[in-house]
Amino acid sequence: MFINFWYAAEQSENVTDKPVGVHMLGQDFVLFRDTSGQVHCLSNVCAHRGAALAGGKVNGDCIECPYHGWQYNGGGQCTTIPAASKDVKIPKRARVDSYPTTERYGLIFAFLGDLPESERPPIMECKEYGQEGWRATTIVFDWDFDYKRSIENALDAAHNEFVHTTHVDKKEGDPFRVPPLDLIDHDWGTSFHIEMPAPAMFEEKMRDTADRAEPSIFHIYAGYHGVSSFWTFIEPTPKFIRRQHFYETPVDVGKTRIFTVDMRNNMRDPKDDERMVYMDTLVMNEDAKVLLGIRPVLQPTTNIKENFVQSDSHMAHYREKLKEWEAVGWRIDQDEVDRNKMKVAYAISSPARRTSKNWTLDPVPLVPAKTGVTTSNIANLDRNVRERKQE
Ligand code: FES
Ligand SMILES: [Fe+2]
Repeated sequence: MFINFWYAAEQSENVTDKPVGVHMLGQDFVLFRDTSGQVHCLSNVCAHRGAALAGGKVNGDCIECPYHGWQYNGGGQCTTIPAASKDVKIPKRARVDSYPTTERYGLIFAFLGDLPESERPPIMECKEYGQEGWRATTIVFDWDFDYKRSIENALDAAHNEFVHTTHVDKKEGDPFRVPPLDLIDHDWGTSFHIEMPAPAMFEEKMRDTADRAEPSIFHIYAGYHGVSSFWTFIEPTPKFIRRQHFYETPVDVGKTRIFTVDMRNNMRDPKDDERMVYMDTLVMNEDAKVLLGIRPVLQPTTNIKENFVQSDSHMAHYREKLKEWEAVGWRIDQDEVDRNKMKVAYAISSPARRTSKNWTLDPVPLVPAKTGVTTSNIANLDRNVRERKQE
């Protein structure tokens, strides 16, 4: 798992006047809204004696710990210690990490890391959300598989006719041959375009939107962004476009919460939402059936423990990209976290730790950066790699 990316923490509508506990990257967080409606994301471990803040309550602009009532503002600073006499100054160390948040596409995103704003990788865009002519449906899935396996599945053009038998024709003796893919590099990921035979299962209404009676080619544009977001743009017919955005949040090792935001430019009647959700859930369940059985649960540390063929080239590319993000020192040292599981409460370093020392919790340990690779040059590094490949 990696720090220094934006992760979808919860659906906006689920954070109202009560604190909400969220587990991400193997750590606990609390989300709450202040009186102005601004949502905050704090480390869930009270700096007093470690109680879970999410079990407390929202008190004005603060979250109040359920144990002894310490209150923390949105910046993570303790503002009230009820049991202390009035003339005792609140120690500076009475604070918890506070993470930048933003609300987009009906979701609350938290930046789990310590990068200053100018260096943060952006959230994967969902341009059509809220735009005229588009309709959104959002589904949240919780799975016991690793997000990296899920991203690779999303990039996998060879699995459709075997996994999605409900809506993809399997032509015996004439399998779909994945053509060599032109990978398009982006600052924070890679994408490709592929044409596939149209699915057999077509909703009648979809057919109605086609220019031709029997659409034969299905255009798919897909790519990943950062460690755990990906998008799939499907054009079943020239007039029917679906743009699916998957914000995957690593909950813990081998546990993933997937927020899907699915945009469509046709069948926009709210009555059709149910059919869209049904179809998306059907497809997700088909993928999950395979993903839950893959071993090892995590990606092997070397590709020679699997057999990559030409149609897996974009997965290999994703793995290379992960190595780049590891080289800048963003990967959590999970072995160290696990070793200390029962005796150390960690917090992911928040941006404030860059400028201020003396925190109560230890920072989540990270795999050390490779010499000469710094967090401030990651985007440049990315571009350099791309330019080198183009030469
Ligand atoms: S543990 Fe939170 S106030 Fe004491
Ligand atoms: Fe799939």
